Amino acid sequence: MYEYLKKLSSIYALRMFMDKIRDSKILGIGTGSTIKYFIDELIRLDMLKDKKVVVSSYATLNYLRKHGIDAYTPINCDYVDIYVDGLDEINSNMDIIKGRGAALLWEKQLAIRSKLRIYVADYTKVNPEPYLYMKPVPIEVVPNTAYYVIEKLAILGKPVLRMGKMKDGPIITDNGDFIIDLIYEKIQDARRVDEEIKKINGVVETGLFPNNLVDYVIVSYPGNIIRVY
Ligand code: 5RP
Repeated sequence: MYEYLKKLSSIYALRMFMDKIRDSKILGIGTGSTIKYFIDELIRLDMLKDKKVVVSSYATLNYLRKHGIDAYTPINCDYVDIYVDGLDEINSNMDIIKGRGAALLWEKQLAIRSKLRIYVADYTKVNPEPYLYMKPVPIEVVPNTAYYVIEKLAILGKPVLRMGKMKDGPIITDNGDFIIDLIYEKIQDARRVDEEIKKINGVVETGLFPNNLVDYVIVSYPGNIIRVY
């Protein structure tokens, strides 16, 4: 069912912003299983030619290249017309957590540089409270600072170094960094916490996307219901 709902929100987002996406010169595309449906639909409708596509990860870059579409990483772009991506949690203030796929650094770069930011999700990612609490906050850190950062983060919650699938070492991001997942009780003020964490030496970026980086969120619910936030 979730796969169907992921597809539903992605396709709805594409239909809703069809003209803007068609007219965009630089399109930012994120990472994850939901956004793959968005990419598939863009490919099906042949909407990616005559456009510069900028991605938030090598995973998405490779996916596009497999389909014969050339794409760029954020190093090659100063601004983005529209950025579309998935998310892990959204609260009633429209603050978001991203980064389960470890692509949060480039994702935040694209969100900051974009004129319009659209996120797609199924209803399991929606938190009706005005604070964040459902998902840990992923924090990208320079590898040789990981244990220092973990010690500093301990006053905010429980920091855990993210390990790779084989558990044979920490996962490495596309930027060559590690990820620490911060388990916490509640985050009321996402922007303040984001700024606070970034003051720690070694922190590169956090997966907190405060609502100033969020324009639209398209959410699918069972029964073919779509809500636009
Ligand atoms: C990757 C992300 C993803 O957009 C987020 O984890 C959602 O992924 P999915 O659509 O697979 O649930 O932030 O870093």
